[in-house]
Amino acid sequence: MGEPEGKAVSNGLPPPPFELPYPDSPDVITSNLLRLAELTPNERRRFLAKNLISHLHQFVRETYLTTQEWEEAIQFLTAVGKTCTPLRQEFILLSDVLGVSALVDAINNPPVQGGTESSVLGPFFTEDSPDLENGDSIASDGKGEYMYVEGRVLSTDGTPIPNAKIETWETDGNGFYDTQYSNREKPECRGRLHADKDGRFGYRAVVPVAYPIPGDGPVGQLLLGMGRHNMRPNHLHLMVEAPGYTKLVTAFYPEGDEWLESDAVFGVKKSLVVKLEEVNDEEEARKRGFPKGSSFKLLQRDLVLVPEAKSREVFEQNAKEAKKNAPVA
Ligand code: BEZ
Ligand code: FE
Repeated sequence: MGEPEGKAVSNGLPPPPFELPYPDSPDVITSNLLRLAELTPNERRRFLAKNLISHLHQFVRETYLTTQEWEEAIQFLTAVGKTCTPLRQEFILLSDVLGVSALVDAINNPPVQGGTESSVLGPFFTEDSPDLENGDSIASDGKGEYMYVEGRVLSTDGTPIPNAKIETWETDGNGFYDTQYSNREKPECRGRLHADKDGRFGYRAVVPVAYPIPGDGPVGQLLLGMGRHNMRPNHLHLMVEAPGYTKLVTAFYPEGDEWLESDAVFGVKKSLVVKLEEVNDEEEARKRGFPKGSSFKLLQRDLVLVPEAKSREVFEQNAKEAKKNAPVA
């Protein structure tokens, strides 16, 4: 903001076309706000504004929020904003740990009979994944314990979807994404491949490990203050796209991890917990392209996409139901 110039002017809008009582009691403050929100021209935004005001005001009244608590909340949100950089989005992390990202994902990608369920995208997807062929590895040798991932991309009626695009990424065996290394020279532990004509895909990866979400900012402090850990259970991210189908953003979570039930960002769904098979066979290891040793883990799982029209139908039906229960329509 530069130096002010000339006479101070309003944003140009007139007083509201109705009378408002003076806001000299908590109830009048809320009802005036709700009446003012009626002026919002866009119908959806009007609905969102009224419900936001209604819930926010109710929170302040019900908790009898003190001035000090309000100041602390403002300081916290200011710190969250100041932590954001082009490479770090602390507000999304806040949304993640408060379960808002998982909730938005759950609402927008409701389970559809037979379809693979969604999971949170997270901040570590990048556009610069290398293009791979089936059978290739997303990880350089030495980045972790060997794992082979294979399955088919199918439609909910069981038909294979040829040529679906699969983006997949994970941390290395130390629990870090490539983007977390300041000396990153090229993408690591990520790749882009396509299912074959029968919907089949397969690639080499490393066994996922549990890792902490960034804990050195205000969101980390919030978790400590709440007595909550900042761990995500071991997982492999996948994003699958094919024309006519809803884009699937998901992850597979190998069973047995101690953080599965208390994921810091609420991404785990029961149907996404997978079994890793232990393969101990030197010939098989070579056949699948692992350069050494005789053992690897095998993750076999189909990825089932939902036709766009079906996703829309389920979303709209659920949205209609939810709107009936909104406090202000
Ligand atoms: C992830 O799984 O990559 C992730 C998701 C949410 C917050 C941090 C990381
Ligand atoms: Fe992750």
